[in-house]
Amino acid sequence: MLVGKIGSRSCCYIAAACVLVALLLIVFLTIFGVIPIKNGDIPAGEDGMRPETTIPQGRLRGINMVTHLGRRFSAFIGVPFAEPPIGDLRFKQAVPAGPWNGTLDAGRMPNVCVQRTEELMGDEDCLYLNVYTPQLPSSQNATLLPVMVFVYGGAFQYGTNNPDHHSPKFLLNKDVVLVVPNHRFGILGFLSTGDEVSPGNNLLKDIAEALRWTQRNIKYFGGDANKVTLFGGSSGAACVRLLTLSPLTKGLFHQFMIHSTPQLYPPVPEPYSVVAARATKLGEYLGCPTNTSTTLVNCLRTFNGTYLYDTEVLLKDERTARATVWYPVVEPDVEGALFTDTPANIIANGKQHDLPWVALVTKEEGIVITAVYYDKPDLFQQVLDNLDSHLISFLRHDVWSADVDAQTAALKSRYLNDLTADRKLLLHNLTDIISDYEFIYHIYNEVKQHANNSAYKSPAYFCTFDYRGTFSDSYIFSNGNPENLGAVHGDELIYLLPGPKEFFAPPGSEYTENDMKMIDAMVELWTSFATNGLPTTAALNDNAIWEPFSSDEKYLQIGNDSDPGIQVKSGFHEERMKFWENFFAAKK
Ligand SMILES: *[C@@H]1O[C@H](CO)[C@@H](O)[C@H](O)[C@H]1NC(C)=O
Ligand SMILES: *[C@@H]1O[C@H](CO)[C@@H](O)[C@H](O)[C@H]1NC(C)=O
Ligand SMILES: *[C@@H]1O[C@H](CO)[C@@H](O)[C@H](O)[C@H]1NC(C)=O
Ligand SMILES: *[C@@H]1O[C@H](CO)[C@@H](O)[C@H](O)[C@H]1NC(C)=O
Ligand SMILES: *[C@@H]1O[C@H](CO)[C@@H](O)[C@H](O)[C@H]1NC(C)=O
Ligand SMILES: *[C@@H]1O[C@H](CO)[C@@H](O)[C@H](O)[C@H]1NC(C)=O
Ligand SMILES: *[C@@H]1O[C@H](CO)[C@@H](O)[C@H](O)[C@H]1NC(C)=O
Repeated sequence: MLVGKIGSRSCCYIAAACVLVALLLIVFLTIFGVIPIKNGDIPAGEDGMRPETTIPQGRLRGINMVTHLGRRFSAFIGVPFAEPPIGDLRFKQAVPAGPWNGTLDAGRMPNVCVQRTEELMGDEDCLYLNVYTPQLPSSQNATLLPVMVFVYGGAFQYGTNNPDHHSPKFLLNKDVVLVVPNHRFGILGFLSTGDEVSPGNNLLKDIAEALRWTQRNIKYFGGDANKVTLFGGSSGAACVRLLTLSPLTKGLFHQFMIHSTPQLYPPVPEPYSVVAARATKLGEYLGCPTNTSTTLVNCLRTFNGTYLYDTEVLLKDERTARATVWYPVVEPDVEGALFTDTPANIIANGKQHDLPWVALVTKEEGIVITAVYYDKPDLFQQVLDNLDSHLISFLRHDVWSADVDAQTAALKSRYLNDLTADRKLLLHNLTDIISDYEFIYHIYNEVKQHANNSAYKSPAYFCTFDYRGTFSDSYIFSNGNPENLGAVHGDELIYLLPGPKEFFAPPGSEYTENDMKMIDAMVELWTSFATNGLPTTAALNDNAIWEPFSSDEKYLQIGNDSDPGIQVKSGFHEERMKFWENFFAAKK
C-alpha cells in the first residue's frame, strides 16, 4: 500500500524529488495511514471530577489522564489560542482568541487543520492547543513548573495535536507542563503576496501566537512562563529553528530542541518574490484578478479553504520538483515580518536567539528513503545499475558542482566502492549516504558553527539516537516489515510523545524492559534540560556529564541497537563528517 501510494502520487523512485517526496509521503502515512484521525469525544475521568481552571479568556473544564506509571494529570484539550482564521482572517497572521461565557468543555478533540491525508479533511477553524499539567495552581504549590511546547512534523502539510498521536503519558511523569498547538498547513499556512497584504509564514506565526498565549496563560495551569522550552521533530524542527531567527519571538521561549531537521531543497525559506509569483500563477489558474495583491487575496478568500489547500495539483510543474509546494518565506520588510533575511545570514551575523539548545539525529535517518528497497530488490538493482544518476537525484541539485563526475566518484569511493558486495551491505551504505547528506552532516555542522561563533555564548548539545527498540517508524517506512532496520527518522519520539503502538510494530507487540529504560532515559534527558538547562539521566554511567559541543566534539550516543546504554563520546564520525565538509567545499 505504501509503495502504491508513493508510486501513484509521485512516480519517482529515481526522480530528483524522490528523496523529499518519499520523506513527505512516508511521514504522511506514518501518521495517517493506519488509523484515520477522528474528531471525537475523549472519555472524561472515571470519577467525574473534572479539573477546572480559569484564564482571562474564561473558565475551562479539562479531563483527567494517567501516565504509563499511573500518575494522574490534567489535560485541557482544544483550547482556542487564536480566532478562527476564516473569512477576512484567512491569509492573515493569527489574531489572539477572544473570551467566552460560561465554562468551555476542554475535553473534546478540536478540528484538525485542513490537510490531505488519505482524503482531504479538516477545517480552517483549527487554531486550538492542548495543555497537560501535573499541577494546577493551588495554595499549597506555588512553585511554577517548566513548560515544554511541542511542534509536530508533517512536511508543513499535515499533523495533529491529537493526544493519541503525540501522547503525554511518558513526559507527564515529570514535573513539566506540556503544550501542543495546532497550526495551518500548505497554502493556508504559507501563501505570500510578497508585500504587506499577506507577507507569509502564517504557519510559523500560528506557533508564535501559541507561544504568546503560553506567556499570558500558562501560570493558570501551573507553568512558568519564564521557563519555556520549544521542541519539535522533522519539519517541526525546521519550524522551531526558524522561530529562533526572528526578533519578534524574542522572550517567547528560553531554550529549544530540534530533532532530525531535514535538508530542504530548494533552500527554505524561499525569497518572497518566488512565493508571490506562485500566488499570482495560482490566481490566474483560478480566474482571479491578479493586478493587485488585495484583489488577488480577496478573490482567493472566496474559495472554499479545503479546495484551495488542494490546488497544489494546479501547480504541477512545481509539484513534480518536490512534494510540498508552499514553504516558509523570507518576508518583505513590512510590519509583522518574522524574518527578512536568509537563515544563513541571520545565524552568521549573530542574530539568532542566543539560547541553550539540543540537536538530535538518529543513526539510520536515511531508512526513510531506502526502506522500500528492502522489499524490492529489483528496484535496488535499478539503482545500482544507474548509480551515478541515482546519486545525483538522491542529493538535491544544489550540491553538485561543475565537476559532477568527480563528486559521484568521491561518493562511490567512500560509500559504494565494491558493487559486487553483498546487497544488504550496499543498501546499508546507500542509507548512510542519505542519512549523512539529508540530515546528519548539516545538523552536525550547524552545531559546530554555533560553537565556533563568538557571537553565541549559549551551549549547544549534540546527540545521536542509536537505539532500536520494539517499535520503530521503519515498520511504516517499509510497509510493515518488522525487520530491524536500525534507529530511523522519528524513532526518538516513540520514547517521548508516542503514537499508537500499532503504527510502529506488528499487532500485540509490547515494550520490553530495555524499551522502558529508554523511555526513562529520554524523558529524564529532555525534562532535565527543560528544568535546568542541563540534560542528564541516571542512565549515564560513571557520573559522566554530557557537555556542550565544543572543539573536542563531545556528543551523547543514546543507545546502540537493542542496548539502551548511554555514553558521552567525543569526535563525531570524524572521517565521515570530514568527507562531507570536503564534498561541499568542492562545490563551486
Ligand atoms: C457573554 O454574555 C454577555 C451577556 O449576555 C454578552 O453580551 C456577550 O456578548 C457574551 N460574550 C460572548 C463572547 O459570548
Ligand atoms: C506540591 O507540593 C507538595 C508539598 O510540598 C509536594 O510534595 C509535591 O511534590 C508538589 N507537587 C508538584 C507537582 O510539584
Ligand atoms: C484591478 O482589477 C479589478 C478587477 O478587474 C478592478 O476592479 C480594479 O480597478 C483593478 N485595480 C487596479 C489598481 O488596476
Ligand atoms: C468546503 O469543501 C469541503 C470539501 O468539499 C466541504 O466538505 C465543506 O463543507 C466546504 N466548506 C464550506 C464552508 O463550504
Ligand atoms: C561501506 O562503507 C564503509 C565505510 O562506512 C566502507 O569501508 C566499505 O568499503 C563500504 N562497502 C562497500 C561495499 O562499498
Ligand atoms: C573553530 O575554528 C577554529 C579555526 O578554524 C578551529 O581551530 C576550532 O577547532 C573550531 N572550533 C570548533 C568548535 O569547531
Ligand atoms: C555497538 O555495539 C556493538 C556490539 O557490542 C559494538 O561492536 C559497536 O562498536 C557499538 N557501536 C557503537 C557506536 O558504540
